[in-house]
Amino acid sequence: MRTGFPKNFLWGGAISSSQADGAYNEDGKGLDTQDLRYFNSEWTKEERDHHRNINMTSERFEKALTATDTTYYPFRWGIDFYHDYKEDLALMEELGLKIFRTSINWARIFPNGDDAAPNEAGIQFYIDLFDECHKRGMKVFATILHYNIPVHLVTKYGGWKNRKLIDFYLRYARVLFERLGDRVDYWLPFNEINAGKFNPYNGVCLIKDREKDYESAIYQCLHHQLIANALTIKLAHEIIPGSMVGGMIARFTTYPATCKPDDVMQSILDEQYSNYFYTDVMARGKYPAYMERYFNDNNIKIEKEAGDDDILRENTVDFLSFSYYMSMVATTDKNWDRASGNLVTGNKNPYLQASEWGWQIDPVGLRISLNQMYDRYQLPIFIAENGIGAIDQWHDGKVHDSYRIDYLRDHFKQMKEAIIDGVDLIGYTMWGIIDIVSCGTIEMKKRYGVIYVDRDDRGQGTNKRYKKDSFYWYQNCIKMNGEDLDDT
Ligand code: BG6
Repeated sequence: MRTGFPKNFLWGGAISSSQADGAYNEDGKGLDTQDLRYFNSEWTKEERDHHRNINMTSERFEKALTATDTTYYPFRWGIDFYHDYKEDLALMEELGLKIFRTSINWARIFPNGDDAAPNEAGIQFYIDLFDECHKRGMKVFATILHYNIPVHLVTKYGGWKNRKLIDFYLRYARVLFERLGDRVDYWLPFNEINAGKFNPYNGVCLIKDREKDYESAIYQCLHHQLIANALTIKLAHEIIPGSMVGGMIARFTTYPATCKPDDVMQSILDEQYSNYFYTDVMARGKYPAYMERYFNDNNIKIEKEAGDDDILRENTVDFLSFSYYMSMVATTDKNWDRASGNLVTGNKNPYLQASEWGWQIDPVGLRISLNQMYDRYQLPIFIAENGIGAIDQWHDGKVHDSYRIDYLRDHFKQMKEAIIDGVDLIGYTMWGIIDIVSCGTIEMKKRYGVIYVDRDDRGQGTNKRYKKDSFYWYQNCIKMNGEDLDDT
């Protein structure tokens, strides 16, 4: 029996290109879909929340295409990781990270997405970045697509609804495998592949008013992503024998609100539709039967091609991963109190506290999720994202973020329990290891990092980095390999 974290446990940190890099039009990069998301720092909390998962409209999209004032487009500046990555990775090395997760920006490699040849400057950036990681003792966990696709793929082809996207994506993946294959330790074709259902612009790049049947269009896009995911696994295994390619979802851990059988059934359905559909396809290699009923009941039509079933069956993932921020409860009671959360809003759990953004904090839910996933698939698991978004107070170069330390400690204890339960947990990349622009509300103010970045919601500030109290705590935790969590 295991008694704690394995010796080779991969303690890490994660960011994404659109939230961190900036340099949105440098060295040949094309405009990407996240570059077009508008944010106004004057918005109230309610307005920010409203714009969080708002559907993209043609009007907003067209306006953003020609916008030159970058103030209102924070994903265009991020934290300027593109230029500062060496200094940032030096801090990660000091932290003791064993692995660093970031995403590759498709529009840096193929500015339009359908270009015949890749942009060499873009490839060089990732060669240098990943070499720097290894030089500093970190493995590389590369997300091939963290939402943002070249804008041209939306304007010309309509985003993921068009099956041609699979070929363009595979052309992009092939370049990555051939040129960066020996520099990447773990590959993730799609960040949170279920995100398209909950935020169709982010996840599958759909513009709502351009769709006659929005729900069917969403599932059509998701089908194309699932096929692209399977074919990417095939390609990776052909080009880089022994490569590890994973599947990822945003994990919406769901409990029945009461022991009323209807609530229990509702929680099973929520789990199936929001989580297991995606992991079942990626890990078991076929559409689960419960989705046939869902499609039928909701009049959802998807076009599949002959051979799609074989592609899914023959190319399943080597490991599973998920982001975990909160849990929800399921009930048929329409008057149940509501709670906010990552990508979704749901029902409140009276036993849990919530973050300043209303996400319910549930460390035990992480142990539950790990057990559920492992019981179902018996595949190695990587926690690709976890952390707390908070408003940090910076004084004289210091941030006393005891709430973040508590959050991490409580979640790590439950990870340890899950490992003792027998779950094959191989790694953990804390989300937003360095402060970045938040993805949902597009704020700098919502900070996840153990490293503070002096930049505000308008992009103003010195952009200097400072170590928060949680930096030293996480550093010690990694040094101790997660032992003695009670004493820290
Ligand atoms: C995940 C995304 O869903 O949630 C990240 O993969 C995102 O990109 C994270 O940043 C936290 O969400 P937010 O809205 O607080 O940034």
